Amino acid sequence: MSDGPDAPGAASVHHVVLVGMMGSGKTTVGRRVAAVLGRPFADSDEIIEARTGRTVAEIFAAEGEPAFRAIETEVLAECLAAPEPTVIAAAGGVVLEADNRRRLIGAGTVVWLRVPVGTLVARVAGSTHRPLLDDDPAGTLAELSEAREALYLEVADLTLDASQPLDDVVGLIIDLVHQREVRVATEGSGGQVDEAAR
Ligand code: S3P
Repeated sequence: MSDGPDAPGAASVHHVVLVGMMGSGKTTVGRRVAAVLGRPFADSDEIIEARTGRTVAEIFAAEGEPAFRAIETEVLAECLAAPEPTVIAAAGGVVLEADNRRRLIGAGTVVWLRVPVGTLVARVAGSTHRPLLDDDPAGTLAELSEAREALYLEVADLTLDASQPLDDVVGLIIDLVHQREVRVATEGSGGQVDEAAR
């Protein structure tokens, strides 16, 4: 394996990355976590839409899923290369691509927002901006959830039950980030806790 900047553990900037299925709350939770930590927030779908001037649904319809995945991979790599610690909501499908998974491992604190399929179905009901859910949302969410479980697990530092109340999910993530960052600072200073990381 290469020792380049994409190698696991090579990230020098400690991002917080939220992964999980459509409807798991990545954007909502991510915005709140970023506000509490006072860090910038990036949402991969929003960046793609701003950059292309098209919605995700329009890209799927005009160019197909593989073209969307290629842009998604590019955007995720850019988010992870940000020089500032950032809270990143990574769209549900980023884990499909092996390169993305490799980049996510070692990117900082990766949190899998895990939500039972029944709750996902209820949360996405009525939304029209997710092209994969146009037909049979319940069946598709069940199928994708099962197919992706191992992939989310592979990249996650922490798995959280994100069907809990929003405040609890946000609080747990903040606690985890503080613990991990104090640990990293401690290891990096030969045992001295870096007060700035608290
Ligand atoms: C997708 C998730 C969506 C969006 C696209 C495909 C997926 O983002 O990128 O509809 O394959 O899981 P969210 O996870 O933010 O809904």
